[in-house]
Amino acid sequence: MIKEDIDRAASLMLASDYVVGLTGAGISVESGIRPFRGPGGLWTEYGEPPMDGYQRFLADPKRHWEQISRKDGYLGELYKALEGAKPHPAHYALAELEELGVLKYLITQNVDNLHRAAGSKKVAEIHGNFFRMRCIQCNSRYEQEEISLESIPPLCPKCAGIIKTDGVMFGEPIPLDVLEVCQREVGNSDCILSVGTSAFVYPAAGFPKQVKRNGGVLIEIGPYETELTALCDISIRGKAGKVLPQLVDSVKFKL
Ligand code: APR
Repeated sequence: MIKEDIDRAASLMLASDYVVGLTGAGISVESGIRPFRGPGGLWTEYGEPPMDGYQRFLADPKRHWEQISRKDGYLGELYKALEGAKPHPAHYALAELEELGVLKYLITQNVDNLHRAAGSKKVAEIHGNFFRMRCIQCNSRYEQEEISLESIPPLCPKCAGIIKTDGVMFGEPIPLDVLEVCQREVGNSDCILSVGTSAFVYPAAGFPKQVKRNGGVLIEIGPYETELTALCDISIRGKAGKVLPQLVDSVKFKL
């Protein structure tokens, strides 16, 4: 059953002109980072953070930075997992699909940097990157070590604007430069490979639906059904680390 589905998925991808990947927290579960929702989810345990997180940041950035440095609530666990995580076979499989020229672009909702660490080049991090900082005024991005936290909130070396972590908070608009790349790639796409996302959070959750509306193909991989499953041409029940390497083998066999 799963083997046939994987082979069909490989054929559908090879018959498509522009395959785009969309990943979520589920693809990094096997790297030791908990998902947000469903069984074992961080929000399932701690509750969803307030939807106006960004407005609270703008109201008192100093207080926000103090919370971060104390690693309050779920932050402690999440930061520890992010700092210690390494890519696993699912991340490498997507990097290999890019190298084979089958995957044209990868949109990730994850802030864990694991796709880049696995060698993926064409990556849009729609929710930012945990290991980076960003100026909310000029949108310049910095590696963590480039910004001193001696005085908080840290200020932008270029424009003296306030610096925040690059991760997009609830209530924060997606930085335009990243959003434009995502919209361009989804606009080009006739096949979405969705892995490890509950497809609950917009605008990312809208991308597969857009491709489907435009007559494209939708392939999903994950252990549980999601908001997308009913729309999918193929929906494979399984863990990313098990299914994606098999998908690469099937693609390579057919190439
Ligand atoms: N392999 C593949 N998928 C998995 C695995 C696994 N090993 N384990 C769990 N999953 C699936 C779950 O079944 C679920 O459908 O991954 C999905 C994770 O969903 P969420 O936790 O909702 O994560 P995500 O879709 O990325 O959330 C979107 O919400 O909280 C915000 O900013 C946060 O980027 C995040 C966004």
